[in-house]
Amino acid sequence: MPGGVNSPVRAFGAVGGTPVFIERAKGSRYWDVDGNEYIDYVCSWGPLIHGHAPDFVLEAVAQAAALGTSFGAPTAREIEMAELIVEAYPSVEMVRMVNSGTEAVMSAIRVARGYTGRDKVIKFAGCWHGHADGLLVRAGSTGMTFGIPDSAGVPAGYAENTLLARFNALEDVNELTTSLGDQIAAIVVEPVAGNMGVIPPVDGFLEGLRRIATEQGIVLIFDEVITGFRVAYGGAQERYGVEPDMTTLGKIVGGGLPVGAYGGRRDIMERVAPLGDVVQAGTLSGNPIAMAAGIATTRELQRDGTYERLEERSDALAHGLSEAAADADVTITLNRVGSMMSVFFCPGPVTDADGAAASDGDQYAKFFHAMLDRNIALAPSKAEAAFVSIAHTDNDIELTIKAARESFRML
Ligand SMILES: Cc1ncc(COP(=O)(O)O)c(C=O)c1O
Repeated sequence: MPGGVNSPVRAFGAVGGTPVFIERAKGSRYWDVDGNEYIDYVCSWGPLIHGHAPDFVLEAVAQAAALGTSFGAPTAREIEMAELIVEAYPSVEMVRMVNSGTEAVMSAIRVARGYTGRDKVIKFAGCWHGHADGLLVRAGSTGMTFGIPDSAGVPAGYAENTLLARFNALEDVNELTTSLGDQIAAIVVEPVAGNMGVIPPVDGFLEGLRRIATEQGIVLIFDEVITGFRVAYGGAQERYGVEPDMTTLGKIVGGGLPVGAYGGRRDIMERVAPLGDVVQAGTLSGNPIAMAAGIATTRELQRDGTYERLEERSDALAHGLSEAAADADVTITLNRVGSMMSVFFCPGPVTDADGAAASDGDQYAKFFHAMLDRNIALAPSKAEAAFVSIAHTDNDIELTIKAARESFRML
């Protein structure tokens, strides 16, 4: 296995040291193969909003598996999942299930190109949309962490059709669309950036993208693979009140199993085969076990008070971390939107990729290891978010803040 891992950031390349090998997990905790217990804030990079292995997901998975693991034919569960998504996301009138976030964004862009008959796509520096060829241009976590702005193996022609703007800089988008508007198929954006550390949209940014896209006939795609069902049940589009033309989902919508989804306006989605002429298919798409996990997770999120509780605990953690850093005389900027947050080791505000790059990676690495030594698992890269789950208790948060007090003092 290259680097001993199946996804690069897991190798601890950005923080040094040896990755912890996980054996099992439950709730807010996981245990490594040596029997050490950790409070986990990676949460499998976002999907586990109820923490690890909640009973209702295990039961749903077991029930579905007993009936067959894959059919490659339509099932009622797919319809139930689709209905849950279109109810939660009014901008999504039709949806197609896929197997990962990468596939969701790659497919959404193909559909936007088919729909508009245009080739170019605007993306924002530091945003990560998975590893499809055309999107590996100033991508988030992997690119930033390892300082590789482009991946080898991506034909120059692919990247040529990707236009770059700075996150939160509407003037960049205006400039690009003024000169090239009639060639641009889509603007794709993480409505809350989560892959260069957490960066909220500044006031007017998402609204501005909406306005420009409408004026220029460009398809606005919100990549809500992280933010969907995370920053609100209806994602960032609900939280900020801006409707995109297309939405991509993943992570939480799969309840911890491999799932992605893309959808949007009916007239756009009707271009997808077999209704239309844009080809997109998948052997395991809409897999019954994955649908069962996604449905169970999504339904559980409908309980009253879920997002309020997440907000409260996340706020308590963010405050505690900020205070601990201040008491230790360590300069940090803490960005948080709902239950996703990041500590940047630099003065703020951090509003774009250049700001995020200014965060001191050595300090993050030291902090990360000091926390890990105290049995708190953070993301092994300064460019990633910490996720609070419903399973994190007040006691977990207290223990984490106590560990952070000691860890900040060691910097
Ligand atoms: C915003 C965003 N889009 C797309 C992806 C790609 O999803 P996946 O890793 O499931 O392919 C990610 C993954 O972290 C993501 O954060």
